[in-house]
This record gives sequence, structure tokens and C-alpha cells, in this order.
Amino acid sequence: MKKELLSSFQEVFGGSEAELFFAPGRVNLIGEHTDYNGGHVFPCALTIGTYGAARKNGEKVLRFYSLNFKELGVISVSLEGLTYDKKDDWANYPKGVIKTLQERGFVIDEGMDLLYFGNIPNASGLSSSASVEVLTGFIAKELFGLDISLVDIALVSQYAENNFIGVNCGIMDQFAIAMGKKDHAIFLDTSDLAYEYAPIKLENAKIVIACSNKKRGLGDSKYNERRQECEDALAALQTKLDIKSLGELTEEEFEKNKALIGDPVRTQRAKHAVYENQRTVKAVKALEAGNISLFGELMNASHVSLRDDYEVTGIELDTLVEASWAQKGVIGARMTGAGFGGCTVSIVENADVDNFIENVGKIYEDKIGYKADFYVVEVGDGPVRL
Ligand code: GLA
Repeated sequence: MKKELLSSFQEVFGGSEAELFFAPGRVNLIGEHTDYNGGHVFPCALTIGTYGAARKNGEKVLRFYSLNFKELGVISVSLEGLTYDKKDDWANYPKGVIKTLQERGFVIDEGMDLLYFGNIPNASGLSSSASVEVLTGFIAKELFGLDISLVDIALVSQYAENNFIGVNCGIMDQFAIAMGKKDHAIFLDTSDLAYEYAPIKLENAKIVIACSNKKRGLGDSKYNERRQECEDALAALQTKLDIKSLGELTEEEFEKNKALIGDPVRTQRAKHAVYENQRTVKAVKALEAGNISLFGELMNASHVSLRDDYEVTGIELDTLVEASWAQKGVIGARMTGAGFGGCTVSIVENADVDNFIENVGKIYEDKIGYKADFYVVEVGDGPVRL
């Protein structure tokens, strides 16, 4: 990989004195649409992700090139006065991170030549964009000797996504990527960023991701709308309850007070946020106690709630998950990420993985008319210099 990156870098920018970096993608095991509701999430970093080759260029220009979007060529922008520009396409993500670092007083006084290559399927829901963001923050830290922690790189990346790209995402993706740890998932409380690493002890099972190949971007999804519905429900509950987020409520407290919301759709959305948060806490306990089958049941319940109450699944994800539930050796399966397309995550016993892929793949193609892609993934570390 190193050789290929350097030779591509040389072809595109000339000279081969680039430094090499990697940041992972992520998959969320449980705790969906809870991160902007002050709840818990349980994601892990993957060994697939985004590679970067980078060097300072002695000019006041940033040059971006992606081996995934060769047709867009080199995208060049001035280091000063960075603004969102539709024609810069994917390069708006790294631009936003560099702009945010500058705004926070980190000195980036020279341009860079940056080449990216991702082996995460684009728009799959495995956070290819957060991976690019965190990678860019990490490259800037390393090349300019910035005194910034990995948690702050995650926060800068989320800020850039919220304010530069305009997607009001929570902190989960950027945090999972920046703080990833091999063979561990991260149990993160998004209300205060307290976190614990939990070993992924799946015994004789593997994590299998099925990508629906229904493309989506958060920008054109109903993501911001869901977030607004939760905020409206919270505001209604706050007329009586002294809470800062939906994540503070137990199921019982929610049931006792839900009439305050006064609107059936917002009540459903808030119900998901509250129950999913509690499910996540229970799931992590189950995993720690070695009770994988309970963990799997909670994953299944998470999908049902995302399908029926939060309404972010759609025919593609439902077909994949329902086909997965019907297979031998499946411990749990659910959609993962924002929804509206993207991927599912399943835990499948080793001996059944091949049949799982074949059977679910066939059911999906027969019903949807195009193929799904399957990945048996490994849990990896956060960003590294290669
Ligand atoms: C996207 C967002 C995350 C999170 C998930 C849903 O991945 O970037 O912040 O809200 O959707 O759990």
C-alpha cells in the first residue's frame, strides 16, 4: 500500500517525499440516533479506512487529490479564507477541518499537497467522510506539530461537518475514528464524552457488514429533520421536567411524561431516543457479562425501533436485516449509521458466514434488483502515521 500511495503521489504532485497516514472507518454496534440526544453509543473503528499521503508545499495553497474521485482531478484552493464551495466536492470535508483548526488558533502557515485513498465504500454509512476529516486533522497535527489531542481532533471534525458542510451530526463517528482501539468498541456517553473501552469478545462469531448500495449523503437525507423532531419533543418535556437531553430519561420516566409532547410523530421519535439509549447500556453490560445472545437480541430490537418509531430504515435496509434474522448462526442484525440506505451490521457465527453472505445476498438481489456487498470486518486502531 505504501509503495502505491507514494507512486500515485509522485504522479499527481511530483516528488515522492510525502509522509503516509491512515484513519479508520467505523461501525456502530448499537446506540443509533442517540448521540445528538445526550445518550450512549457503542461504535468501533475498523481496519478499513482512509489513507493519506501528505507534504507541506511551501506555498499558500492546499491541493487535494483523491484516488477514489480521479475524475475530479487536483482540487486547489487558497490556504486563506477557506469557504464551502460546491464545486470542490469531497474536498470540502478536509477544507472545513483546516479552516476550523485555523479559527481555533492552530498555526497552519503553509499549504499542503494531499492525496487520499479510501477503501471504505463511499456513502455506505461506515463514515468515509468522518474518516477523511479525522485523517486531515491528524495530518495537520503531525506535519505542523499542533498541540491538539485526538478528542479535540474529533470535536474539530464534528464542528467542521456541522458548520462548514451543514450536517448537524453528533460526535459518534469522529470520536470512534479518532479514539479507536484494536479489538475494542467504545462505550461513549455523548452527554459528557466519558468513555470506556469494551473488549469485543464475540467468541466464535464475526462482524459482517452488508452494504445496501443505496447511495445517500447525510446532507440529502432526513437526518436534520429527525434531529429537529427530537429537539421539539425535548422542549415539550422540559416544560415540566428538569432535563437537558432525552438521554437522561429512563423508559418509565418517558412513559409517565410522554403526553406532554402532544404530537404522535415526535412522541415516536423521542421514544426511540430514550429506549435506544437504555438498550445500549444494557447491551454493553450483556457483552461484558459474556451474554452475546442478549447483545444480539438488543441489536434486533434496535432495528425494529429504528424501523417503526424512528423511521429511518427503508425497504433496502429492512430487506437485508429481515433476511439476516432468518439465517442460521445469526446472533443479531440491525441497520447501522444514519440509515436511509447505507449498511447493516450482523454478528454471525464463524461457520455460517459464507452461507449468510450467499443467502442474504440472493434474497436482497431478488427483491431489490441490484446486489449488496458484504464485508467481514476487523476492529482496528485510531489514526496512525504509517
Ligand atoms: C450519523 C451521524 C452520527 C450519528 C448517526 C446515527 O452517522 O454522523 O453522529 O447521529 O448518524 O446514530
